[in-house]
Amino acid sequence: MTYSPYNLAGKVSLVTGGNRGIGLGMARAIAASNGSVAIWGRKADANREAVEELSKLGTGEVMSWEVDVADEQAVVDATNETVSKMGRIDSCFANAGVGFGAPNFVDMDTETWRKNMAVNLDGAFWTLRESVRHIVDRAKAGDPGGSVVGVASLAAIEGAGRNQAYAATKGGLISMLKGIAVEHARYGIRANAILPGWIATDMTGAAQGSDVFESKVISRVPARRWGTPDDFGGIAVYLASDASAYQSGTTLVVDGGYSIF
Ligand SMILES: NC(=O)c1ccc[n+]([C@@H]2O[C@H](COP(=O)([O-])OP(=O)(O)OC[C@H]3O[C@@H](n4cnc5c(N)ncnc54)[C@H](OP(=O)(O)O)[C@@H]3O)[C@@H](O)[C@H]2O)c1
Repeated sequence: MTYSPYNLAGKVSLVTGGNRGIGLGMARAIAASNGSVAIWGRKADANREAVEELSKLGTGEVMSWEVDVADEQAVVDATNETVSKMGRIDSCFANAGVGFGAPNFVDMDTETWRKNMAVNLDGAFWTLRESVRHIVDRAKAGDPGGSVVGVASLAAIEGAGRNQAYAATKGGLISMLKGIAVEHARYGIRANAILPGWIATDMTGAAQGSDVFESKVISRVPARRWGTPDDFGGIAVYLASDASAYQSGTTLVVDGGYSIF
């Protein structure tokens, strides 16, 4: 007997925020496993560069859409276009995210709160809702199964001082995914959250240049380094594949051991 669930040929994955950072790391591994990939991001240039790179990795198709996930109608339209151009969505990675903090909690203004909510929670809600709608319709037509994933954060489960708005979006995302998991298991849909630790991307650019951060935080990561976008390839392929068919409602921490040390 051969076991090859990680060959994603014939499967289509949607990765929001897939043009750089963690999203691109996940998209790279999916493409290299012969999955087809749809990238959503706001910047046309970054989208184009990602498609160029990803297209060379495997046998699947790679396409991109300019989408601001904080715009409900844009998400609805892009989901329909993705399904119409790529044929289907088997897995959806709601990864697009922003991180706006404040000097301290009492000075956190409502605009900061709303900016985090707009992308990380509203955007993930619309992205997941529309992909789930498609997968449910497909299941009712006799072709069940799908995987939806939210990229949350350790901030959801550890105290994130000065970042309460960001943390609240990630906690909310985990709760939303658990509800999706329970309600849609009957359609073969599983829903899981990935919780990254400290990952070297544009989002953490300021911390990467800080000696204080390196000595106080990164020195406490048991793996003794920053995470990289490619560290998320394995979990993405697993969650996009049939190997994860019975995994649902879980939170998968990918942090080099930071949270248990
Ligand atoms: N880096 C970390 O240490 C870390 C830790 C925990 C969790 N996370 C989470 O991991 C996810 C990815 O973060 P990252 O570190 O890879 O960040 P990043 O390098 O800043 O990339 C963010 C991605 O999201 C896209 N994006 C942002 N706003 C968007 C919007 N309104 N509509 C559509 N796309 C949007 C960006 O593309 P465009 O600019 O082209 O739109 C980009 O592709 C986020 O949800 C973040 O909260 C990161």
